[in-house]
Formats: sequence, C-alpha cells, structure tokens
Amino acid sequence: MKTIGVLTSGGDAPGMNAAIRAVVRSGCECGMKVMGIRRGYKGLIEGDMFEMNLRSVSDIIHRGGTMLYSARCPEFADPDVQDKAVEVCKEFGLDGIVTIGGDGTFKGARALTLKGIPCIGVPGTIDNDIASSDFTIGYDTALNTVMDMVDRIRDTTESHDRCSIVEVMGRNAGYLALNAGIAVGATCILIPEVDYDIDSYIIQRMKRTQKTGKEHFVIVVAEGVKGIDCNSLARYIEEKTGVESRATVLGHVQRGGSPSVRDRVLASQLGFYAVQLLKNDIGNRVVVVKKDEIVDYDIIEALNMKKSIDLELYRISNEISI
Ligand code: ADP
Ligand code: F6P
Repeated sequence: MKTIGVLTSGGDAPGMNAAIRAVVRSGCECGMKVMGIRRGYKGLIEGDMFEMNLRSVSDIIHRGGTMLYSARCPEFADPDVQDKAVEVCKEFGLDGIVTIGGDGTFKGARALTLKGIPCIGVPGTIDNDIASSDFTIGYDTALNTVMDMVDRIRDTTESHDRCSIVEVMGRNAGYLALNAGIAVGATCILIPEVDYDIDSYIIQRMKRTQKTGKEHFVIVVAEGVKGIDCNSLARYIEEKTGVESRATVLGHVQRGGSPSVRDRVLASQLGFYAVQLLKNDIGNRVVVVKKDEIVDYDIIEALNMKKSIDLELYRISNEISI
C-alpha cells in the first residue's frame, strides 16, 4: 500500500480545500494511505501530520482558506533542513507528496524529489503568477472578490464625485489588477509589466475625460508597481486635477471567501491528476492547465517557463475606459 502526503504552502488561496479533497478522495479510492501535513514544509519538518480518510474532507469544497493550514518556511531552502524533511518522510513511510502552492512551493518539491521523495506540484495562488499554468487555483475567486469590492467603492466614489485609487495584490505580477481593472471599468490600471508616467497616463487622461463630463474615477494599482504609494498618489491627483481623492488598499480580503465554480472545478481536476501521477510512481512534475487541458511538466522546466501579460487587453482597457 502506498502512502502519500498532501500539504498547502505559501499564501493560501480559495480552492485549496477543494484540491485537498480531490487528493484525499482519489488517493483513498486507489487504495492509498493519505497523510495530511499541517502548515506546509514547516509541518513536514516537525512531523505534524495525520491520516486522512474519505470523511476527513467532507464539507470543505465550499470553504476558503486551507484545512491543512499554510505557512511560509524560509529555512526549507537550506539543504540540511531538506535532509531532515526526508528523514521525517521515511519515518512516516511517505512514498510521495502533493504540494499545493506557488513557485516557492514547487522549488521545495523539486528539492525533495532530488533527495528521493517524489513530489507533485499543484498551482495554488491568487496571483496567477505561475508561468506553467494558464490559471492557478484561487485566481478566479480573487478576481471576483476584487471586482465586487471595487464595485462597492465605485458607488461611494460616484456619490461624491471623487477619484478612488485601489491597490490590489498580485505580488510582482499584474494579472489580478489588469483583469479586475477592466472588469470594473477603471480609468487607469497600473501594472508592474508596463512602464507608467503619472502625468501623461493618469492626470492627462483624467483631464481629457473631465472635459467629456466624467466626474468620478477609479484607478487600479497592482501592489507590484514600483515607486507608488497610493495615499501620495491620491494627494497628487487632488492637487493636479482638483478631484477629491481617496486611497484603498484591499489587502487580505482578496485571499478569503468561498471559491468560485471555476476554482472548485480546476482544483478538483488538478488534485485528482496529481494522485494519478504518484500512483504510477511519477514524481518531479507539476500538474497545470494549458489551453483548457490538464497537462503535466517537469518541475524545473515549469519553473523556467515565462508567462507574459495580455498587453492587448491592457490596450483595449485603456481605449474603452475613457
Ligand atoms: P509560493 O509557494 O506561493 O511561491 P513562497 O514563495 O512563500 O510562496 O514559498 C512557499 C514555501 O516554499 C516557502 O515558505 C519555503 O518553505 C518553500 N520554498 C521557497 N523557496 C524555496 C527554495 N528555493 N527551496 C526550497 N524551498 C523553498
Ligand atoms: O502570494 C499571495 C499574496 O497574497 C500576494 O498577493 C501578496 O503579495 C502576499 O501573498 C502577501 O503575503 P502575506 O500574507 O504574507 O502578507
């Protein structure tokens, strides 16, 4: 009988529970023993794990967060700490691990595989910044959360003829900001992938639209944009345009909430396929979605891939949000 582990690591994302459920249910159904490892690599090193069964994952598919908890464990980059983790895996008889997280998590999975514990990476992060996958678990839910929050901000922005600057997460990537930005009709979207000039991109655009009768504005800023502080930007806009301005940092509300249909389905598919690979003694892979198909790649190959942002979408947004 094979024993596999499952862990969630890095920032949590809505849909991680659905992925855990898929791993546990499909693992049990193919006769495996499935161990739930708490708090990512931190729990692995500490041997903080428990046996799961079909019922351990009841009533979680609709819940945000992760029932296995998550943690950042920077010391896991240290080869000695990885050796300790391998010893723990041997002690608990783990033949493989499904690791759910982002690129950092995949690096840990790669290290463990090289040391003899086959691992499979499943992409889970609201940032959608995993190059090997078109979409990551949690991204769709976070997009909808941002859209909902900014819609609310828009209501009060409009009532007061103001400009609202909204900072959204995404780490170094602008996927969340760009896609939520176009969905809320933001006048300007600032993302790390595109250079910006505040005067020509924001102030001039606002002045031009003011002349056509526009009196309220929403500006979406990705947190990864360098050199921007939303409060200072609000004061600058006020000074240059005369439009009263407010800044909102959406923060961790973006990481919570019940996962969307899309995230639940994706998580279920990816979790299921990860187990099929381990069942066939295949490790060192990531299971991802590419062009609507579930495929797997070597972890190193996946980590070296590049993903670009849709600049045409950016152009369209600028053209129609004027
Ligand atoms: P994400 O997985 O979302 O990218 P992090 O970058 O925080 O989030 O990484 C999650 C965890 O993966 C880290 O806390 C650490 O335990 C592990 N990790 C990150 N980088 C490495 C690395 N170079 N080698 C081994 N493990 C790593
Ligand atoms: O990677 C997910 C993410 O929410 C990023 O968007 C953000 O930059 C970061 O994690 C925040 O991390 P923490 O929860 O440690 O503040």
